[in-house]
Amino acid sequence: MDMGRRRIQMLSMLENKRFLITGISDAGSLALHAAKAIVEKGGEVVCAGLGVTPHHTALSDKARAYLSANEQAFRDTIAQELGADTPVFILDATQENSIKDLASALDAQGLKLNGFLHSIAMDRTIRNKKVKPLLEVTEEEFCDTLGVSAFSLVRITHHLLHADVLQSDASICSLSYIAAEKVTFHPYRNMSVAKAALERITIELADELGRSRGIRVNALRFSPYLGSKAGNATLDPQDVAKAAEMSPLGNAQPRDLALEIVHLMQPGLRITGEIRHIDGGYHISG
Ligand SMILES: NC(=O)c1ccc[n+]([C@@H]2O[C@H](COP(=O)([O-])OP(=O)(O)OC[C@H]3O[C@@H](n4cnc5c(N)ncnc54)[C@H](O)[C@@H]3O)[C@@H](O)[C@H]2O)c1
Repeated sequence: MDMGRRRIQMLSMLENKRFLITGISDAGSLALHAAKAIVEKGGEVVCAGLGVTPHHTALSDKARAYLSANEQAFRDTIAQELGADTPVFILDATQENSIKDLASALDAQGLKLNGFLHSIAMDRTIRNKKVKPLLEVTEEEFCDTLGVSAFSLVRITHHLLHADVLQSDASICSLSYIAAEKVTFHPYRNMSVAKAALERITIELADELGRSRGIRVNALRFSPYLGSKAGNATLDPQDVAKAAEMSPLGNAQPRDLALEIVHLMQPGLRITGEIRHIDGGYHISG
């Protein structure tokens, strides 16, 4: 094949394919990098971001202000970075009915999906770079973190399939971290347990959905990254520098992650149940 044809094939790798991207809060969100790379390769994206839903009935003023600010930043980011014609939906992954609404809205608008990116994490035991010792974590904090950061992968998949939105041969990717397996040099604790659950869910779903529908499910462990809200809440610049030093190739960048997501989103791959490292080799250092 000549170089020109190969290049056109690479550019249109995801042509006529549509993907749901969750977890965009602002221009620093890893999910935005993935969305942009998908669009570059000819794919379409629809985005679901955290905001106020009709199911939020008893919100405190503080919680409402937080959700509203997140929603505005999400909407502005999508309009500026991906274009005002990109479909946007509001999703609170802690609310079963919000996930159901998202699936119904996609169905009502005829937006069938060839895959989705789960890029959602939240842990209230991490505040201003301080991490609660696991021994002090309450049952509620533990279950909240697990629910939003891990079990939501099951519920989103469930509702998208139930609404007949997610196609056979779709690809599902989620974002994880080495702390799912190893104690990191910087504390992570409660969230580590949620990431371990997310990865196990990935493997179990890969088996269930591969056999029943030809759907692939993979997780990607990324380098520590300060550029997002979640990263900035957890990490210090020294942590990121130390990880870069430990990694034979230095820290992976959002673009590296985005291109691997594009690769896994390609139709027809026989890759599933993988926990991939996009981390410059950070995971091989002890
Ligand atoms: N930043 C890092 O160092 C790093 C490293 C490896 C993996 N990750 C993972 O990458 C993913 C994206 O994180 P990021 O670094 O881009 O930060 P981010 O803060 O931009 O993304 C986290 C997203 O989760 C969303 N979210 C939280 N609660 C939600 C809810 N109830 N319903 C719907 N959405 C909700 C937030 O709105 C936000 O958009 C996360 O799973 C994170 O754990 C991050």
